[in-house]
Amino acid sequence: MKFNKICVLGLGYIGLPTASTFATHGLRVVGVDVNPLVLATLRKGEIHIHEPGLHAALEAALKTGNLTINESPVEADAFIIAVPTPFYNDKFGEHKDQKYKLADMRAVTSATQAIVPVLRKGNLVVLESTSPPRTTIDLLIPILEKSGLKAGVDFQLAYSPERVLPGQILRELIENARVIGGVTSESAEAGRDLYAIFVKGQIVITDATTAEMVKLMENTYRDINIAIANEFSRLAERFGVDAWEAIKIASLHPRVKILNPGPGVGGHCISVDPWFLVESAPDLSTLISAARRVNDSQPHFALELVRKAIGDLHGRKIAALGLAFKPDVDDLRESPAAEVVHLLQEEGAIVKAFEPFRLEGLPGITCVNTLEEAVRDADCIVLLVHHAQFVALSPKDLAKKSPTRLLVDMRNAWNPAQWQAAGFKLFRLGVGKN
Ligand SMILES: NC(=O)c1ccc[n+]([C@@H]2O[C@H](COP(=O)([O-])OP(=O)(O)OC[C@H]3O[C@@H](n4cnc5c(N)ncnc54)[C@H](O)[C@@H]3O)[C@@H](O)[C@H]2O)c1
Repeated sequence: MKFNKICVLGLGYIGLPTASTFATHGLRVVGVDVNPLVLATLRKGEIHIHEPGLHAALEAALKTGNLTINESPVEADAFIIAVPTPFYNDKFGEHKDQKYKLADMRAVTSATQAIVPVLRKGNLVVLESTSPPRTTIDLLIPILEKSGLKAGVDFQLAYSPERVLPGQILRELIENARVIGGVTSESAEAGRDLYAIFVKGQIVITDATTAEMVKLMENTYRDINIAIANEFSRLAERFGVDAWEAIKIASLHPRVKILNPGPGVGGHCISVDPWFLVESAPDLSTLISAARRVNDSQPHFALELVRKAIGDLHGRKIAALGLAFKPDVDDLRESPAAEVVHLLQEEGAIVKAFEPFRLEGLPGITCVNTLEEAVRDADCIVLLVHHAQFVALSPKDLAKKSPTRLLVDMRNAWNPAQWQAAGFKLFRLGVGKN
């Protein structure tokens, strides 16, 4: 299938790099978003999210004249849906007295509905948003067929998940292997023809539900592996063991590779996607929901470590370093670091957080603009996210900025011998020995 013009619905971390990349590869692209702030920012040639290389990619795309920004879809050869699929915060499912989270598919539903009036014979529609199994078939087909056209016959329909790593999105978009699942083999082939315009990695074609499940399996696999690392960190502390040392040694086994523990699992992928499988088959997802519960409760374990370090938290001043869900990104969604700060505040601690990638932080958390401000009068400094600039701090640097010599490291980012030699007392997550 040949493509001249496409519409990309949703211009966030996924949609914007995708739209820009197609535009710089010669397609005419209409980028669509429903957020007026996003539209206004992009129209000025600026970006609303932090992603290395994205500003340059947008500028290049706008310069070609191929990329335009619009509030609704227009007629095109293909439509790509890259809108958010979070979970509801106020609605839950229940199975055998255990609650599970439910996917909020409202954005996918309304983006799909917006395509109906402009859908034409011979078009291709691709859903990229991470979605529960069977979404393409059970949710998208009935909506799109309201156009009077038949999926897989009059228009092609495919699911193609995104697997990029924030911080590396522009490179991985092109280089990663890509799976494209069609509602028919013709649909899958049409999807392959579209992405082959810029994808250099292997393109694997399959059916739509397999492609949906592949994406969920990938993130669930990661979540479960982090859950076991987090559970090991709890056990290590109980048994007087250093989890980091034990994990390093265990991983010397040729068939063992244990991930790192931390204060929890965040971001809107790994901490969300496994619930899509649980929701779709709660009776069959015992292990998946148990892992989710371990990871969701890890911020409480992190809180107890701070309590161990400082004692009663009430009225104590704590500098929290980092709020992002992982190092060197500005994404605070579902961040366990933010959850630890909320828990500390609930215990009466006075927390000043410093998030260098997003200075405004989050509502309900006092954020300061510099590291100096955060640590100036702190009783204890808690490293929550191993941003490179925090890892690079030396005892000498920090001693000049803060009176406290009490540190809690949730990431094993600081060398204990070095800090202890400089007079600091360092508590590390998952370490039950001094
Ligand atoms: N960010 C990642 O690293 C990543 C990785 C893999 C998969 N995903 C998946 O990709 C999807 C998109 O994620 P994201 O991180 O780009 O989200 P995002 O929140 O950064 O961006 C989504 C954009 O869609 C817009 N939007 C919402 N409803 C819309 C509608 N009806 N029509 C048009 N635009 C609409 C929002 O205003 C927003 O700008 C999600 O399903 C996510 O799980 C994300």
